[in-house]
Amino acid sequence: MSIKAGSEEHKELFCRQFIETHEVFDPAALPWPELDAVALERLRSVPFWQEVYHTERRAGAIVDAFTPQVIDPLVREAVALQGVEEARHASLIRVMIDRYGLNATEQPLEKFPDDLETAFIDFGFGECMDSFLGFGAFKTARQSEFLPDAMFQIFDVLMYEETRHIVFFINYMAWREKRRGHIALTRALKSAWFYGRAARRLLGMVKRGQDDNDGRDFAVTQANMFLDGFSFTQFVEDCYKENARRMSQFDSDLMQPRLLPAISRLALRGLRLWERR
Ligand SMILES: [Fe+2]
Ligand SMILES: [Fe+2]
Repeated sequence: MSIKAGSEEHKELFCRQFIETHEVFDPAALPWPELDAVALERLRSVPFWQEVYHTERRAGAIVDAFTPQVIDPLVREAVALQGVEEARHASLIRVMIDRYGLNATEQPLEKFPDDLETAFIDFGFGECMDSFLGFGAFKTARQSEFLPDAMFQIFDVLMYEETRHIVFFINYMAWREKRRGHIALTRALKSAWFYGRAARRLLGMVKRGQDDNDGRDFAVTQANMFLDGFSFTQFVEDCYKENARRMSQFDSDLMQPRLLPAISRLALRGLRLWERR
């Protein structure tokens, strides 16, 4: 990285790149495939559409609420655009729910705290974690041909936008912290703390998902085709490699998430040693 994190130049770069890579499309007009009975059954057996739908609606609401509080006009323009994209993610999921008759209803959104920036930051670290794990899960599901590839092409639109969001967020955080005079160490500690919160939220979600359907629906269908022979090491490796592949599409002058890739690289080393014993 050749430019200084937190500088005006840095801000211009991460905002402009985000704004310029925004794509215009209508979720309803995407090439949604016809699914045969088997594929439809598989899609319906995925137990987290409700959670995904809610998460995207919540994301849009948080980002929209935070937008007017952003003082810098260029940063505000970029954040506003993220709000547009999050709302579009929710409508993309809605289109899919309606089209394929998936089981997901609209839940009320919680009231956000007055400190909307903290809500935005919490949400941002949550996105970093969800995306990193999502990269691996996406690869596993796509490789096992769990659904026709046309579906994965549509999901990939969403994944690409999430990747842009986390790159924007990581740069936003560095810029914000630098302007507040925080040094690298406090920044790292702060990230770790927020990641801890994101991890706890994620575990809560998994737990809720299990309580809701005991994992039954998912297990009875052929969903276990990609759970059979599932290797944790392989999954971590997929997350790591997919993250690297997706990140390589971004300008090398932009900062990228580092903590999760570093942790997983360490974990992989440990796991491989363990497996060799
Ligand atoms: Fe989203
Ligand atoms: Fe996002």
